[in-house]
Amino acid sequence: MSQKTPKALWGGRFSESTDAFVQAFTASVQFDNRMSSEDIQGSVAHATMLADQGILTAEECNQIVSGLKQISEEIDAGSFEWLIAREDVHMNIESRLIDLIGDTGKKLHTGRSRNDQVATDIRLWLRAAIDQVVSELAKLQTSLINLAEREAETIMPGFTHLQAAQPITFGHHMLAWNEMLERDYGRLLDCRKRMNQCPLGSAALAGTSFPIDRIRSAALLGFDRPTENSLDSVSDRDFGIEFVSAASIIMMHLSRCSEELINWNSTAWQFIDLPDKFCTGSSIMPQKKNPDVPELVRGKSGRVFGHLIGLLTLMKGQPLAYNKDNQEDKEPLYDTADNLLGCLHAFGEMMPELLVNKTKMREAAKSGFSTATDLADYLVRKGIPFRDAHEVVGKAVALGIERQRDLSEMTLTELQSFHSAIDTDVYDVLTVEGSVNARNHMGGTAPNQVMAAAQRARDRISRRRV
Ligand code: ARG
Repeated sequence: MSQKTPKALWGGRFSESTDAFVQAFTASVQFDNRMSSEDIQGSVAHATMLADQGILTAEECNQIVSGLKQISEEIDAGSFEWLIAREDVHMNIESRLIDLIGDTGKKLHTGRSRNDQVATDIRLWLRAAIDQVVSELAKLQTSLINLAEREAETIMPGFTHLQAAQPITFGHHMLAWNEMLERDYGRLLDCRKRMNQCPLGSAALAGTSFPIDRIRSAALLGFDRPTENSLDSVSDRDFGIEFVSAASIIMMHLSRCSEELINWNSTAWQFIDLPDKFCTGSSIMPQKKNPDVPELVRGKSGRVFGHLIGLLTLMKGQPLAYNKDNQEDKEPLYDTADNLLGCLHAFGEMMPELLVNKTKMREAAKSGFSTATDLADYLVRKGIPFRDAHEVVGKAVALGIERQRDLSEMTLTELQSFHSAIDTDVYDVLTVEGSVNARNHMGGTAPNQVMAAAQRARDRISRRRV
């Protein structure tokens, strides 16, 4: 970043140049040059609209558009000289345009302000970021659905209070994660829809005296429509807050999933084995293989939640309309998008390679009298009221604890001592397979329901338009 100090574009009313420290302090080009391509897109659309309206001549518009094209090439090639003294991405590009094409370049800013320009740039940038997030999300969801199908019959303990509660299938568990992400998709889509309105034409705050066509500018940039109110347009950052809020919920989900993977992968549980490439070793303990990827994802949720609070606080005291405070919106947005994309990508790559230890999971599913509810349900089917059945099974569990035997390992005589209605067919429901197969309704854990739910989940993804 260069420290050269050419005259500021807004320098007309100022008698002395900006203090070097203040200049660096107030500049944003160090980070907002990340939106250079959106800034150029916005300028091309603005110039095109101005020419359509007869505010610029066709020749002037052509000069501007080809100057901007050259700038875009310079930026791509890394030869563009970004100057701190030119404050931000907008004035760096506009000044370079004037250097390149002279006085015509000075006409680009007609009927526009950096206030509506920056609001447009961020919306364009964030819209593209959302599209990328949505695509990573779909990849991760697809890998969860594939895994669910692969492990539709794999039995594991389902937990409440982190106590083994009832047997479930691993596929069912994967589809639970997928549901969280499906809601996340809905939130992103909703946020994108509200974001997709064009602030151009709002100018500094009140609109412009030129006969602009806002519908045209909006259409040229792929927005659904222009924003409604010029004051709101230049000051609103709700769309950024909505994005970070949706991102925070995704990170909260990924953090919960990470926590489960870490538990499952622990030496104590041994339910899964994370492939080596998603783990690292310890510099002191040679035996260690640490689940770094899920741990880091869990950790990164913190910074994204932090950005949400940061942005809410940024906006809470601001009077209408634009204030320089708003310049602080970009870094949290970039950081949120970068980390979110990284986490989704890492998860999407890791999940298909998960090794599942079926034996350990099945053993754990059998422990803790996880089919006790099945025995109660069995008695209910034999005509015993549920509360009585619950009591009977409680006694059987107490005996099991005493003799260190699971319900399925008790003899028929033992079981019949608790209730005479119990017969040999009881063993069908006391096995973990019997238990999961019995939960055979939409949303249940039975393998055939998991397969059907996986298909529905896949169909929903293939019907998406964004
Ligand atoms: N760099 C500024 C920002 O990010 C651009 C808008 C500046 N507008 C102004 N009136 N100073 O918000």
